[in-house]
Amino acid sequence: MSDAKHTPVPDTKTLASEHERLGRVVTEIVADYARALDSAPVCSTATPAELEKLFDEPLPLEGEDIAAVFDSLKRDVIPHAMNIPSPRYFGLFNPTPLPVAVWADTIASALNQNGAAWRNSPSASVVEARVLRWLCELIGYGEESFGTLTSGGSEANLIGLKCARDRAAEGARDRGLRSSKASGELVVYASEQCHYSFVKSVDILGLGREHLRKIDTDSRFHIRVDLLRAAIERDIAEGHTPVCVAGAAGATSTGIVDPLDELADVAEEFKLWFHVDAAYGGGLAFSEKHKWRLRGIERADSVTIDPHKWMFVPFMCGALLVRDGGRVLRDGFDITPEYLSEERGGADVEYDFFRYGQLGTRRASALKVWAALKAVGVRGYAEVVDRQIELVKHLAARFDELEEFELVGEVETALCCVRFLPKGAREKSVAEQDELQRALQQRVERSGGAWLATTQLHGRRALRINVNSFLTERRHVDYLVELLMREGAKLSVGE
Ligand SMILES: Cc1ncc(COP(=O)(O)O)c(C=O)c1O
Repeated sequence: MSDAKHTPVPDTKTLASEHERLGRVVTEIVADYARALDSAPVCSTATPAELEKLFDEPLPLEGEDIAAVFDSLKRDVIPHAMNIPSPRYFGLFNPTPLPVAVWADTIASALNQNGAAWRNSPSASVVEARVLRWLCELIGYGEESFGTLTSGGSEANLIGLKCARDRAAEGARDRGLRSSKASGELVVYASEQCHYSFVKSVDILGLGREHLRKIDTDSRFHIRVDLLRAAIERDIAEGHTPVCVAGAAGATSTGIVDPLDELADVAEEFKLWFHVDAAYGGGLAFSEKHKWRLRGIERADSVTIDPHKWMFVPFMCGALLVRDGGRVLRDGFDITPEYLSEERGGADVEYDFFRYGQLGTRRASALKVWAALKAVGVRGYAEVVDRQIELVKHLAARFDELEEFELVGEVETALCCVRFLPKGAREKSVAEQDELQRALQQRVERSGGAWLATTQLHGRRALRINVNSFLTERRHVDYLVELLMREGAKLSVGE
């Protein structure tokens, strides 16, 4: 780095050499990071105040030497990053990103295509359509299906629910909800385990948070279809308008998959929109062994599937797929601004992705998904998905053998939940047991050895463990068990 000179904003003569110079620097930083990952602590122990101090600088008036800027990234940012790519990160549905996707994303940054209008991203928009076709095929949708890449699952769920709302409340798009002839309140149904983006979405769409009916789940956390049916019938009897049934395929807290075929039957019976949130669990579609769990997903009107979860592409990239084609999305979102209204002939408008969703300027996220799918292939993904589920089954089997742990629910994806209940803890109150889970999670976090989350299941706290790194091996999973036992034992003796 020492030979790096301060370069102002490059010109046409220096742009290429600047990329070359910084590319070498960044490659080294990323490779060093990757090399250390297997032994590095998973998380920093720095407090927000300590980090604020590191970055407490005035607005830079003069540009500084780029070498110093990258030194600071190395010195101050990387050591205090959450090591999500670590094989011992057992946290949220956040993957280790595939190198092929990271570097394809670098090209997306350098080309800076604007995937709103086809004219501003001709090749990348066609690649996006190709990626969407592949995803549609993967979940069993027919030829007509289409979709749009999104920032993530939250935006995808919002788009799905917007299509559902528009179908139930004719005229709402143009004249507002009050103009609609739909009777009573517009109601959306999902399991009590649904992702919080559903709560936000019903608010944004003008339905109101109270009109998301959260249906209770059974002992294994699947939506109770009998209660769903009863809730719909009750709402109809009270003069309300059911809009949409949403099923989870890989619920956030448990990883379980709702009975999608049964939900499709209910949606069909009551003529409701059927949306499946397969943001995470859509990855099961790669696996010959596990894809049966998604049976019924192909009957959904819309499906959320996130490449930035179980397909290991770097953030941000989700997708919303619609069974009946782009027309469904165009009905909801199409618009023709003055500066994008020229007829250019051909099928270019079909590739104007601003017509299919909420976003204007759109990153060429398709490139990283396309590159990853081509490099790994369906079989490569299947191999990783199967391996990760086996690892979690092994983990669950280890917990099953240990008296201090109690499994909660079952393993349907690469996620398991468990409670730490050492001798004497089972007699304690729910609040005390909950506190124990939190305390153990915090001890593990502070140790730096691994990271996992806690969640609330049927009113009680549990540890939530997800394998979402293709780097994770059995030794990492066994290490996690030892770490939990070690930290748990210290907790039991009040250390
Ligand atoms: C099941 C499910 N749906 C939707 C989302 C939202 O996805 P994102 O965070 O990409 O917006 C998540 C996030 O974890 C999720 O687990």
